[in-house]
Amino acid sequence: MANNVPDIPSSLVEALRAARHVAALTGSGISAESGVPTFRDPQDGLWAKYRPEELATPLAFRRDPKLVWDWYTWRRQLVARALPNPGHLALVELERCVPRLTLITQNVDGLHQRAGSQAVVELHGNINRAKCFREGVMVEAWEDAGQSPPACPHCGGPLRPDVVWFGEALPPAALQAAVEAAATCQIFFSIGTSGLIEPAASLAYAALRRGALVVEINPATTPLSDNAIPLRGPAGQVLPALMQAAWPSEPGR
Ligand code: OAD
Repeated sequence: MANNVPDIPSSLVEALRAARHVAALTGSGISAESGVPTFRDPQDGLWAKYRPEELATPLAFRRDPKLVWDWYTWRRQLVARALPNPGHLALVELERCVPRLTLITQNVDGLHQRAGSQAVVELHGNINRAKCFREGVMVEAWEDAGQSPPACPHCGGPLRPDVVWFGEALPPAALQAAVEAAATCQIFFSIGTSGLIEPAASLAYAALRRGALVVEINPATTPLSDNAIPLRGPAGQVLPALMQAAWPSEPGR
């Protein structure tokens, strides 16, 4: 087994094989091995280099829509060049192996969908979509012909990325699906997230209160760590090892 992979406890393997409903919450750490920066890494994290109040709030967009749109264009292009990694792919396989998986992500990069996950609950939106800043109308495709931000094809207002900014509410249906999954799952995985941003951070605690096993996959500790079964290591190695331990005879491995 690779150095970075902890032993997978046999009790967890048994619980996973018996689970009827599994929930997994992912954060930017799961995409780190795809080359997508996390937010709070002290060296490479986006919030170590950029100020969220200048780039990720409605006020910032009102103040300087071009700066904000161009920053998201840079991130969209970065994500387009990235590929799903073995961590994303292991979650596709998990979806096939358990009766029900609710995959909840805080990521806006769309890498779970590109990996092949069928049902993804996007808590913070998706950087590949845009919506009208004025009317909120969703826009799937837009002209990137020099104008920044591009104009809404319906009303001419400025387009903004369809992501949740600081101070904004989460999409209600996604939040409801996540809360419901946390309340009813038998196992809750917290993967690649620092667990510092609400309401996503509370989901693991809601699952704990309902008696779920909570498992943390992260090379570092987080505020959740004392309450979780730790699998310390990079998600791109730990998740495939977990799948291998639980379903060793699956074809294709
Ligand atoms: P953070 O940057 O806060 O945390 C990333 C986590 O991933 C850290 O705990 C790292 O230790 C861990 N990590 C790093 N590499 C990893 C790897 N290879 N495998 C597993 N884990 C790894 O990012 P998030 O928790 O995603 O919100 O941040 C939550 C929200 O805060 C984001 O969705 C974003 C941000 O501001 C909005 O933009 C609304």
